[in-house]
Amino acid sequence: MKILVVGGGGREHAIIKKLKESPKVTELFAAPGNGGIAEDAVCVDIKATDVDAIVDFATKEKMDYVVVAPDDPLVLGMVDALAEKGIPAFGPRKLAARIEGSKAFSKDLMKKYGIPTAEYEVFEDATRAMEYIQSKGKYPVVIKADGLALGKGVLICETEQQAQDGLKSMLEDKIFGNSGSRVVVEEFLTGPEVSVLSFTDGKTIKPMVSSMDHKRALDGDKGLNTGGMGTIAPNPYYTPEVAQQCMDEIFLPTIRAMEQEGCPFTGCLYFGLMLTPNGPKVIEYNCRFGDPETQVVLPLLQGDLLEIMLATTNGTLEQTPVEFAQSSAACVILASGGYPQKYATGKIISGLEKGQLANKSALVYHAGTKQTPEGLATSGGRVLGVTAVADTLQQAIQKAYTAAENISFEGMHFRKDIGQRALAATKE
Ligand code: AMP
Ligand code: GLY
Repeated sequence: MKILVVGGGGREHAIIKKLKESPKVTELFAAPGNGGIAEDAVCVDIKATDVDAIVDFATKEKMDYVVVAPDDPLVLGMVDALAEKGIPAFGPRKLAARIEGSKAFSKDLMKKYGIPTAEYEVFEDATRAMEYIQSKGKYPVVIKADGLALGKGVLICETEQQAQDGLKSMLEDKIFGNSGSRVVVEEFLTGPEVSVLSFTDGKTIKPMVSSMDHKRALDGDKGLNTGGMGTIAPNPYYTPEVAQQCMDEIFLPTIRAMEQEGCPFTGCLYFGLMLTPNGPKVIEYNCRFGDPETQVVLPLLQGDLLEIMLATTNGTLEQTPVEFAQSSAACVILASGGYPQKYATGKIISGLEKGQLANKSALVYHAGTKQTPEGLATSGGRVLGVTAVADTLQQAIQKAYTAAENISFEGMHFRKDIGQRALAATKE
């Protein structure tokens, strides 16, 4: 089969490396891909959000299947546009992608179907929102932009003043453009966070191995929120009992709710969960694989990723096994100096071969790299994701850092404590 993967980050590199293992895959393309993906697939210079150009390319090149990995093309309706040309694709239709594309939609869905989540209200008016916050009088309070905001649309406000400033910046100053013209104001929850990615064909849902993201830029969960600075899998807080509770109270009810609403979800549904003292609650849904969760989840997947993806499209997931190795995985993100704020690009990356030699089993996923006449260079905030798989979490972390420490570029920074919280939890 001739396959096109839409996107160009570490997540897409992990998907492509796994797809390459499938005996069914004869040709692999990526749009736009990146410097490292170019070694595993033919990269075509089309933006992931350019729906028309992607559909044209897939039609002309007679793609058998397209994997739409990022959120924005899914929310824009790329899967629907491909279907109109008779090209099957992995990922939800536009109406189903609203589960990530509109927080107001997902919150209202959870309320209607009794799926546990933080208490909330939706507002378009700052004065009304402030009245609600004052009537609750509980801080911190969480303010979220309704639409996609590059993972930056969540404000945790400690005081009334911060809440007022936050509402003004979203609703009046429009710092997130139209994504923030509606906001969700919600209760602040506490507890360990767990990411659970799942495959679903709209009726059957099969969760993948659980994982833990590290969203803050600096060690000890300090600094600004980022797209994710590292991940581990499995997440030790996600016990078999919690998994069963999530299946009964969250996963199945969500799939049924989407079907009931006339927009069955197919593809990868990501549950961002918080294990609160009152049980697991949904913090967010994503309509796609997580980044960098994918970089620890897919290396543990046993079997053929393409077969599973096709089963989500064909409605045959129930008969298709989805199994994971009993090992652990850790991924450390190497980021550009300054990320998640302003950062420079074009820095030459050295030590990749040395990193691979130091640890032959390490997998280096490229997130923001490009080929230049001088060699491989940085081209994004998150540059590389170094993953290692081992029998224990401790070994996986150690192996990932051994490989990562051989790699360097000017300004490179990475967290030194990926997985430490999880390790502590396993000893509790
Ligand atoms: P999101 O972009 O929705 O993943 O939110 C980013 C981060 O904000 C989450 O990973 C949580 O750590 C935090 N967060 C979001 N909603 C809440 C909430 N209701 N209570 C506490 N923390 C939250
Ligand atoms: N790592 C979080 C996300 O992909 O949204």
